[in-house]
Amino acid sequence: MQDVYHREINYLRVSVTDRCNLRCVYCMPAGGVKLISHDDILRNGEIARLVEAAALAGIKKVRLTGGEPLVRKGLADLVAAVRAVPAIDDIALTTNGILLPAMAGELKEAGLRRVNISLDTLDPRLFRQITRNGELSQVWKGIETALGLGLNPVKINTVVMRGINDSEITGIAALTLRYPLHVRFIELMPVKASNDWAADRYVPTSEVKALIEGGLGALNEARRPAGNGPAMYYRLSGAPGTIGFISPVSDHFCRRCNRLRLTAEGMIRPCLYGGREVDARAPLRRGAGIAELASLFRQAVMMKPDRHSMDKGWTDKRRNMSQIGG
Ligand code: GTP
Ligand code: 5AD
Ligand code: SF4
Repeated sequence: MQDVYHREINYLRVSVTDRCNLRCVYCMPAGGVKLISHDDILRNGEIARLVEAAALAGIKKVRLTGGEPLVRKGLADLVAAVRAVPAIDDIALTTNGILLPAMAGELKEAGLRRVNISLDTLDPRLFRQITRNGELSQVWKGIETALGLGLNPVKINTVVMRGINDSEITGIAALTLRYPLHVRFIELMPVKASNDWAADRYVPTSEVKALIEGGLGALNEARRPAGNGPAMYYRLSGAPGTIGFISPVSDHFCRRCNRLRLTAEGMIRPCLYGGREVDARAPLRRGAGIAELASLFRQAVMMKPDRHSMDKGWTDKRRNMSQIGG
């Protein structure tokens, strides 16, 4: 599918639940968010049918996100159902890793190829503060399990926050010297939960890169590991892993945007920052045919803005980051 700015849109990020077992400060408010009622959340069969429709419209790659996707019951069945759609050639997962030790095996068996795991610090106390009570050792075990099972590539997402975890940058980057991990440093975005303080805590990629080069040596451009996202990748000399940078604030990667989003209750969202959505659930539940459902994805593509409006902060009154899935 081409949008009006001639971008090829072939990637769908599916939020499978708005629930999460953590409360990361940059994503969720401390008290959590008002949860979508169970009946309003798409069932596995419904997601699979929408993925089929999206594939008919031209989607080739699917990422499952949340909230935290692993808290959804029957996720492995969903992976298998998405796998079974012939036109989909890549299926990936973004997770906080807490439940990976228990679930990575069945997900791999169901056909999952690769995972992206959040990790903002290597210090258990700081981890508890950032995630509001998460247990770092579980995530680390999740990362080891993913590597051990041969999920490939295993990517790490680190959101950088000045005065909170900027002292962790070189330590996390150094993981790539020891493990075949692809660590990505992400510029903090103003979303609903971080709108008031994101500008104060924001660290540009240029600074993160300089810090890593100062501490660990030159970063050489690297081949990108399998994936479809906006990260730019580098490698420390001799390292098995790579270091990537995701720069939504300092680099307008929107011109290379290739994606649509589907929320857990079945709204097609043209842009992370775009408030306008196309309702796919109502037509789906009244029995619309596959061609009509596919046309909803085309409609959403035509609504894609040329770029996000992040400089105005988060203006979406309804949704938080955790209800979109990043
Ligand atoms: P792959 O490259 O396919 O592995 O995926 P990815 O890096 O796009 O996926 P992931 O879910 O790990 O996202 C990493 C970070 O990029 C998260 O912080 C997302 O919120 C951010 N991100 C992903 N897509 C977009 C986008 O379209 N716009 C903006 N502003 N940020 C995005
Ligand atoms: N800024 C940047 N990245 C964010 N994420 C969540 N909230 C923000 C934010 N405010 C990232 C998490 C996770 C991914 C889905 O989105 O690190 O890896
Ligand atoms: Fe949960 Fe991910 Fe948001 Fe953290 S960033 S609160 S793990 S959805």
